[in-house]
Amino acid sequence: MSEDMTLSTAQNKQENGTGAPMGMLAELTYRCPLQCPYCSNPLDINRADTELTTAEWQTVMRQAGECGVLQLHLSGGEPCVRPDLEEILQSAVEAGLYTNLITSGVTLTRERLEGLVKIGLDHVQLSIQDVDPNTAKLISNYKGGAEKKREVARWVKELGLPLTLNVVIHRHNIENTSEIIDYAVDIGAGRIELAHVQYYAWALKNRAALIPSREQFYQSVKVSNEAKERLKGILVFDVVAHDQYAIRPKACMGGWGRSLLTVSPSGKVMPCQECETIPGLEVDNVRDTPLEDIWFKGQAFQMFRGTSWMKEPCKSCDRREIDWGGCRCQALAVTGDAAATDPACHLSPYHDEFAATAEHEAAEEPPPFVYRRLG
Ligand code: SF4
Ligand code: FES
Repeated sequence: MSEDMTLSTAQNKQENGTGAPMGMLAELTYRCPLQCPYCSNPLDINRADTELTTAEWQTVMRQAGECGVLQLHLSGGEPCVRPDLEEILQSAVEAGLYTNLITSGVTLTRERLEGLVKIGLDHVQLSIQDVDPNTAKLISNYKGGAEKKREVARWVKELGLPLTLNVVIHRHNIENTSEIIDYAVDIGAGRIELAHVQYYAWALKNRAALIPSREQFYQSVKVSNEAKERLKGILVFDVVAHDQYAIRPKACMGGWGRSLLTVSPSGKVMPCQECETIPGLEVDNVRDTPLEDIWFKGQAFQMFRGTSWMKEPCKSCDRREIDWGGCRCQALAVTGDAAATDPACHLSPYHDEFAATAEHEAAEEPPPFVYRRLG
C-alpha cells in the first residue's frame, strides 16, 4: 500500500464515506477433518505452515476492535483444530468483539467448549450436512459426524449459549428441507441458516454433482416459507437463495467493502473469500499493513466499493444501492468480467444461459464428488 497510513478511524470514515466493518470472518485455518464438496475455501488451499501465529492472530483481534468491528466469526476450515483457539478468543473478548464460533463440532469436547464459554464465547454456529446420517457421511466423507453434532448441540444449550444451525442445501438433501427444520427446533437452535449452494471454489468444481432442479428449489423455498410463519418466535430463518433460479441477485457480502471483511489463515485481508480470482486485484496482508488501513484504503476494498465502477444495466438501475450489482466473483466466473452485472440478475445478457446450464445439469445423473482436500 502506498498511501499515507496515519489517519485515525474517525478521519478515515469522514474521508472515505465508508463506515467501520460490522463483521470480520477470521478463517483461522484451512485444515478440516471434513471434505465437503461445496467448501468455500480456495481450491489451492494454504498449508498449515503459512498460518498466522497465535501472536499475529491476537494482533488482528486487537486491530479489529480498534477499527470498530462488532462481530467476529471464528471460522476455517475447522477453527477448533487450532490448539490456540482459546488464546485467540481471549484477545477477541478483550477487544470487545461479539464472538461466534462456526464449527462442524466433530473435534470438540464438552470440556473444551466449557472452557471457551468461560473465556467469553457468545454464540455457536453448528453445521450439519443432512439429517440422514448416510447422506451426511456421503457429503462430508467423514464417519460418525451426525451423532457427534447432536451431542455438541446439546452441550451448547446446556452451557446456555445461543445456537444457529447451518445447512448447505443441494440436490442430495433438498428433499429433506422440512426434516432439517424440524431437527433445528429439536436441538434448540434459535436460528437456522439454509444456504442453497453458491457456486464458487469447490462448489463450482462440483456444480453438476450438487445442483438441484428448479422445481426442487421452489419446493424447498415453499417449505421454508411455511415453516417460517409457523415457527415465528421459535426459529429465525436466514435463507440464501439459489442464484441460478433467481430473478435478482443477492447483495453479495452485503455489498463489496461495505460491512464485512475476511482474514485468511495466512493473513490476507479480503472483501470476500473468493476475490483472489479477480485479475488486477491487490490483496493486502495484515502481516504488513494494519487492518484499518486495509479496510479504508486497500486497493482490493476500493475496487468495487460503492457504485462508481458499475456498467450498464447496473449503472442506471434503481436497485444498484440495494443489491450493489450482485456478486463480483460470479460475474467474473460466468461473463469473464468482474465488473459485469451478476448473471443472477434477469437484466444480465447472460442470465438465461446461466439458468439453462443449471437446469441441464440438474436433469442429468449427478457425477461423483471431487472432495475438498488440502494441497
Ligand atoms: Fe441489481 Fe444491476 Fe440487476 Fe439492477 S441491473 S437489479 S443493480 S444486478
Ligand atoms: Fe466474491 Fe460474491 S463471492 S463478491
